[in-house]
Amino acid sequence: MINRETIDKIMDTARIEEVVGDFVHLKKRGTSLIGNCPFHGEKTPSFHVSVTKGIYKCFGCGKGGDSVRFIMDHEKYSYPEALKFLANKYNIEVEEAELSPEAAEAQSAKESLYIVSQYAATFFVKQLWETDEGRGIGLSYFKERGFREDILKKFEVGYSPDVWDAMTQSATNAGHKLEFLEATGLSIKNDNGKIYDRFRGRVMFPIHNFTGRIIGFGGRTLKTDKNVPKYVNSPESEIYHKSNVLYGLFHAKKAIRDLDNCYLAEGYADVLSVHQAGIENVVASSGTSLTVEQIKLIGRFTQNITILFDGDAAGIKASLRGLDMILEEGLNVKIVSFPDGHDPDSYMHHVGAGAFKTYLEQNRKDFILYKANVLLKDAGNDPIKRAGIIRDIVESIAKIPDPIKASVFIRECSSLLEIEEHILLSELNKMRSAKLKKSFDNNQRATPSSNPKPYNSGPPEPLGPPDDLWDDSAGPMGYEQPVEENEHQEKEIVRLLLAYGHEFVNWDKIDDMYIGPFIMQNLSDVEFDDPLCKRIIDYYKSEIDNGRLPTSNHFVKHEDRDIADLAITLSTSEYALSENWLNKHLIYVKDESMNLKATILGGIFHLKKRKVEKILMNLLKEIKEEKNEDNQMILMQRYGVIKGVEREISKFLGSVIVK
Ligand code: UTP
Ligand code: MN
Repeated sequence: MINRETIDKIMDTARIEEVVGDFVHLKKRGTSLIGNCPFHGEKTPSFHVSVTKGIYKCFGCGKGGDSVRFIMDHEKYSYPEALKFLANKYNIEVEEAELSPEAAEAQSAKESLYIVSQYAATFFVKQLWETDEGRGIGLSYFKERGFREDILKKFEVGYSPDVWDAMTQSATNAGHKLEFLEATGLSIKNDNGKIYDRFRGRVMFPIHNFTGRIIGFGGRTLKTDKNVPKYVNSPESEIYHKSNVLYGLFHAKKAIRDLDNCYLAEGYADVLSVHQAGIENVVASSGTSLTVEQIKLIGRFTQNITILFDGDAAGIKASLRGLDMILEEGLNVKIVSFPDGHDPDSYMHHVGAGAFKTYLEQNRKDFILYKANVLLKDAGNDPIKRAGIIRDIVESIAKIPDPIKASVFIRECSSLLEIEEHILLSELNKMRSAKLKKSFDNNQRATPSSNPKPYNSGPPEPLGPPDDLWDDSAGPMGYEQPVEENEHQEKEIVRLLLAYGHEFVNWDKIDDMYIGPFIMQNLSDVEFDDPLCKRIIDYYKSEIDNGRLPTSNHFVKHEDRDIADLAITLSTSEYALSENWLNKHLIYVKDESMNLKATILGGIFHLKKRKVEKILMNLLKEIKEEKNEDNQMILMQRYGVIKGVEREISKFLGSVIVK
């Protein structure tokens, strides 16, 4: 167990914007920071970090908490693991109360995998620099390829001796269990039960997760024998999931965020060489073809990817289609290709660091235009081939979620392909409508009946805070209900009217107005669905129209039993809530009356948002059922406009709530 003083020290030192900032690309918005929520897929940011409060909150999925909570949720760590992670980040020495033998025994298996991986990495590094075999074979190989010592050290490259089980022996002698060595794939047991090293006689590239822990390895052979695989990699394990790891991200993430761009290469050597040229915002997909998870990972740091293509024209053409996936995630894609036969690594060593840097800057082309050019060259004057290109290009453009960005590309491609803009546009609309239908069908199939609980991996953690401390059940604004419902929002409005209707609005430039009429005025365009709420609202409105301002007493003592019941429930719920929220959430809704502006505007705009979402749902249905293509197009345009309104509301909500 970590002692109290250490916990306090960690809590005092950890800054929410730095902790979250390691994982989420945050931008300043007013007094808070916002970004795309790492806990649910989104393309417009609703994830807010309040530096002064030391907390984060996502207004999309409702997740929120402090630095420790963030690490627990994000890394799927237990409470003590998260504390240790933060302690490590801030170089705070962790003082632990004495562990019982059982507790020591129960040290999580996952942790053990990290530990043996780190052990192996250290072993390989030592072999490379301190043994005759390592220096003579491994180090001289790297030197011959032109790598500088500081780069080799930075990436902790190593050498695995050409011996049956050197690493396994050394690790087990040091007390590491074979079980964990096998689980990471570092050691392998053959059919006769004999144990040997996976990596023998190879130079080693350790793979870090983006918090800097070693999770796997790539080992390159030094032999030229065609029958020997060039690279051998660690297998998937509990700590190494290839599809969501990018080689080099740990070393690159700061530069990626600072420079707002991520270079994406293919191999280990490329990452090292590009670094050596002084360009640190580079990662590699390392052997696997790029996955959506990897793109999302980059998307947390920047919206801009520059692909460093290696290989010949044919290879490039083949990989172009895979890149639409990046557009689909809303990221901007640029391309740099290298003169025939060169990859980033070989080209860097060929022309030198300075010239390499200049080359990258001067040969960056936008992906869509690059693709159009490559395909055009390929098609020559063949009209059928050219028609195919149009489809191909527009298909890529249709993947771009931002309609404004898409229309810019349409314009540029129109001149490049010498095709009138409206032809491309109509092609684009056709594709979009097909896509919309498809996503609508999928949505219908997968309507969840209830909200899934955030999943929790691993066994319950006795050392952490009680679960309900972080219970994120729907707050007064009901973040977590399904899209179609808006009863909660309507009730929230009634509650606000009863609680604050007779107080004075005194924020910004709004003056001389009671909150009651202010709310009514702002919701004059909203129809209430819940019959009871509607009755109360109508009554409230007629009273205001007659120059009277109803108090909550008015409703609590109302002759209509249903109205009175609801009024009582709502006026007591605030009391119950504030206690709950104060104790449980500490920070989010410290006291809603202290920030009435946020409370009232929050109430109004959450309801508006629900209403707009409902309209969107209905429109989708209409679009699907409409058979006439022209009508469908009109509906679709309306959908786009209203979607924009929804986005604006979300943005507004974000800016107003966390202040
Ligand atoms: P490359 O063949 O381009 O290798 O594969 P490289 O990175 O340029 O390596 P050098 O320059 O020859 O040393 C690109 C990446 O694909 C994976 C590795 O991650 C490699 O870095 N790969 C390649 C494998 O996993 N296994 C292989 O057999 C080959
Ligand atoms: Mn190479």
